[in-house]
Amino acid sequence: MRMKNMILSPMAALLLFMTSVTTHAATQTAVCEDLLNHMWLSEQRPQALLRILENISRSDTKPGTVVAARTKAEPNYYYHWVRDAALVIQSLIEAFPAMSQEQRQVTREKFRDYLVHSADLQDTPTLTGMGEPKFNPDGSSFNDLWARPQNDGPALRALSVMQLARLMQGEQQGFGPYQLYNNTHIATIKGDLEYVAHHWREPSVDLWEEVYGDHFYTRMVQRRALREGALFARELGDIGAANFYDQQASEIEDSLVIFWDADRSIWRTTVNRTGGYGHKHSNIDVALLLAFNHGLRPGEEIRIHKNLKLSWQSRSILETAEHVENAFREIYTINQNSNLVAPAIGRYPEDSFGGSHTNGGNPWPLATLAIAETLYKVATMRIQNGRSRENALRLVREADHFIDRVRYHAHPDGSLNEQIHRDSGYMTSVEHLTWSYAALVTAEAARAQVFASAR
Ligand code: NOJ
Ligand code: NOJ
Repeated sequence: MRMKNMILSPMAALLLFMTSVTTHAATQTAVCEDLLNHMWLSEQRPQALLRILENISRSDTKPGTVVAARTKAEPNYYYHWVRDAALVIQSLIEAFPAMSQEQRQVTREKFRDYLVHSADLQDTPTLTGMGEPKFNPDGSSFNDLWARPQNDGPALRALSVMQLARLMQGEQQGFGPYQLYNNTHIATIKGDLEYVAHHWREPSVDLWEEVYGDHFYTRMVQRRALREGALFARELGDIGAANFYDQQASEIEDSLVIFWDADRSIWRTTVNRTGGYGHKHSNIDVALLLAFNHGLRPGEEIRIHKNLKLSWQSRSILETAEHVENAFREIYTINQNSNLVAPAIGRYPEDSFGGSHTNGGNPWPLATLAIAETLYKVATMRIQNGRSRENALRLVREADHFIDRVRYHAHPDGSLNEQIHRDSGYMTSVEHLTWSYAALVTAEAARAQVFASAR
């Protein structure tokens, strides 16, 4: 037996080598021919997943805590932000089917921790109830001065838990849809949905934790949570709740008209500002693109009023993306000095938050990846609607330039901070921002989807 193995293994090695040469060559050709693969992006995906997993249930946190980053000072990101955590979990859900058995096992454990922890957080008394944006790593409420409430949180959490309920159905006892919908021991979907349904009209602080008012991003994710929540409730026989969630979702849809800038045919990020920073004059914000990415399912069409609809086919998505892109082209040194095609994108042009100071804002990897994700999603929709392959591939190529931009500024091992310094181009602000990796994973998935639809 031993002998045989020794004889066979060099042959196996040779075979493996030959296969890898062939695959490599084949992929190279494909890249030239039709952009099938973005090498860097696909290579980064497994790394990003590992780095995400490292930031969940760390040994010095309460299990289920997703730290925003490992940095503990200037600024301290060693907290569980409800928004970041939900988005990170959603990226893992998206990646789950393609994971190895071993990685799935590890990920399942993290999912379970997140569900139990989220239920505990819902029961933890806080200064603003369910809209509380962040918690200490031991699971206790964070009671210092902060911008609160942030009402995108419960909606994003409901979306992540509903997706987990479906994923874990039949996989694990005790984590099925029924238990997760309305059970006090694990994250209760209904608790978050009720909060969203009853509070969406109230002003809250935006996702960047700065402006108090009504926000397109917040409304879009609240709407999606209620629509998906209504389906969920109906399946479980909670008909009264289902009707109520649908009703509220329709009212949110009608309300979206307040964000429509008819003159420019684009969306505005905040209206009815009642407090917080007042320096965002352009009302252009990458949060608009995040709102499409996180709030609009493929194939969905929102009817806002007779002449105004929003779907992945709407021109307003590309128009808004173009405005975002143009707003950043002019303002950062690295966007003017470099011969890279796509500009690095920040949160919004007037931003002054540099991480440990507020003396000047920077571009962010997650914002630059978000615009790519939007473009990939539009490309997919075009293919599904029978537009020419070339038409869709043009968008893919455009999106890839944003990925190249992130690649250019990333650390050599691909790791990502929160920000890219606007003058030097080096990574800056906190290292290993968990959300940066989630943004990479979802952009990669959106890119893969374009080619899956083209088959
Ligand atoms: C901290 C918040 O996390 C960040 O988003 C915001 O820009 C700054 N505070 C503003 O001071
Ligand atoms: C600041 C960002 O503006 C906010 O969106 C995020 O939740 C926190 N940092 C934590 O990553």
